[in-house]
Amino acid sequence: MSLKEKIDIERLPNHVAIIMDGNGRWAKSKGKERFCGHQEGVESVRVIAETAAELGIQYLTLYAFSKENWNRPTEEVNALMNLLVMTLESELETFKKNGIKLDVIGDIDNLPQESRTALSNVMAATESFNRMTMVLALSYSARWEIVNAIRNIAIDVENQQLNSEMINEKIFTKYLTTCNIPDPELLIRTSGEYRISNFLLWQLAYTELFFSQKYWPEFRREEFYEAVVDFQGRERRFGKTSEQIKGK
Ligand code: IPE
Ligand code: IPE
Ligand code: MG
Repeated sequence: MSLKEKIDIERLPNHVAIIMDGNGRWAKSKGKERFCGHQEGVESVRVIAETAAELGIQYLTLYAFSKENWNRPTEEVNALMNLLVMTLESELETFKKNGIKLDVIGDIDNLPQESRTALSNVMAATESFNRMTMVLALSYSARWEIVNAIRNIAIDVENQQLNSEMINEKIFTKYLTTCNIPDPELLIRTSGEYRISNFLLWQLAYTELFFSQKYWPEFRREEFYEAVVDFQGRERRFGKTSEQIKGK
């Protein structure tokens, strides 16, 4: 039985989030420049987006650039921003062919103008697609997002749009950049690193975590199927006992 055949289509995670890590180390292992790793990483993005859409996953969130990544050497930051623009322009067909809608989370105002323009063009062109939503996390930091939400809540309390008694988890969630997106059921991190790196700290409260040893450029169909099969073998208890979950 192939890995794909082992997937129960009735029990797919609705939302898969991925920390795409290891582009630089992949390039180094091949004796290439870091940039080649990022280029090859784009190939993985296409394959994984198509694979997820074909399976019937509703949301795929990809951590593409963190707020901390601004601290990388300027040449690498510039190369990544250019790659983003080029990819958005060249992959519009892929979005159309697969019925994928593009959304973005993060501190977008920090991105160069060309990146913002390329993002809004693809978002506008894919707005009506509903097979799958691909959410790109760009200039994203979960702590930034949470502090930003608190600031906006404070402003609304000052303006009397909200009173402090009304603040609960549901209201708080509405102030996050992910307000229209359900929490991920599955988080994948590639490259054998076991950390969250400031990604979706609020949203990952009960997410299943899957760590792959593969570098992102070599994370393709089979690796994605493997993560989904692994996820489906888990018992999600949400604080309850196993007997409660099984209804015994
Ligand atoms: C992930 O690969 C891509 C980004 C963070 C933009 P890295 O560039 O972090 O690759 P490693 O971790 O150095 O191998
Ligand atoms: C996390 O990767 C961010 C992205 C994948 C965009 P990093 O390579 O920046 O993470 P750390 O710094 O090693 O934790
Ligand atoms: Mg890394």
